[in-house]
Amino acid sequence: MSEPHPNATIGEGTIIEDDVSVGWRYHPECGIAQVGKNGILRKGTIIYGDVRIGDYFQSGHYVVVRAQVRMGDYCTILNHSALEGIVRLGNGVRIMSHVYICSRTWFGDHIFVGPGVTFLNERFPARTEKHVTPKGAFVEDDVMIGGGCTILPGVRIGRGSFIAAGTLVHKDIPPRSFSKGTPCTIEPLPERLDRPNDRQLTIQPIDIWHPRGENPRNVMWPSEWPSKFDDI
Ligand SMILES: CC(C)(COP(=O)(O)OP(=O)(O)OC[C@H]1O[C@@H](n2cnc3c(N)ncnc32)[C@H](O)[C@@H]1OP(=O)(O)O)[C@@H](O)C(=O)NCCC(=O)NCCS
Repeated sequence: MSEPHPNATIGEGTIIEDDVSVGWRYHPECGIAQVGKNGILRKGTIIYGDVRIGDYFQSGHYVVVRAQVRMGDYCTILNHSALEGIVRLGNGVRIMSHVYICSRTWFGDHIFVGPGVTFLNERFPARTEKHVTPKGAFVEDDVMIGGGCTILPGVRIGRGSFIAAGTLVHKDIPPRSFSKGTPCTIEPLPERLDRPNDRQLTIQPIDIWHPRGENPRNVMWPSEWPSKFDDI
């Protein structure tokens, strides 16, 4: 039987489900993909060559990681999210489902990105006369970006900031800010949100659907809802 991922090195303990491609040869001269120890690559994941990922990486289904991506340890990217090439993620970056991350985006450590967030890198797409290299956002440590936000090209989101769901970030956000709205308004963080992101969230060696974790059949169902979870 032929080697399933000949253009990759994969660390001990990493689970690889069916229909996963690691080290995808996007170019005849492309280098290998490296994935560290104790990760899980779920069905449908595609990781290009020239990618380096640390330990405890978790991908959801149908995740695409294109070339020239670097990730530290404990990064998670959930179902149907895409990282275009030339992206840097530090340690403990947690990206929920249906997130689009454009080329040349920079993430520090312990960042949470809610579902359906879009990062953009070209200010005047298809309408620039001179070619300008597109550039995405620079996101500092401990930022929380709520679901459905749009992050416009080249902005910097300062350390510890909290971006409310649905925000359009069109300018730099100073460290420890609270932003909301389209386009966004910026205020200092309220006291209850002025703290680093929870490390139990950003450093999760095993999350809820992991085959080595506790069986999630014992679902926690909101007690105030009228019916029980399994009454149909
Ligand atoms: C911003 C947020 C933290 C506010 O929560 P809260 O303090 O409980 O706020 P409230 O629901 O009491 O609303 C307070 C005010 O903010 C407004 N508001 C709430 N969320 C907002 C948002 N996302 N964008 C703009 N305004 C918002 C409310 O309309 C309300 O305005 P009013 O005072 O004029 O009536 C919360 O709504 C939010 O966006 N959390 C992120 C959720 C998320 O993305 N999770 C991702 C993982 S699933």
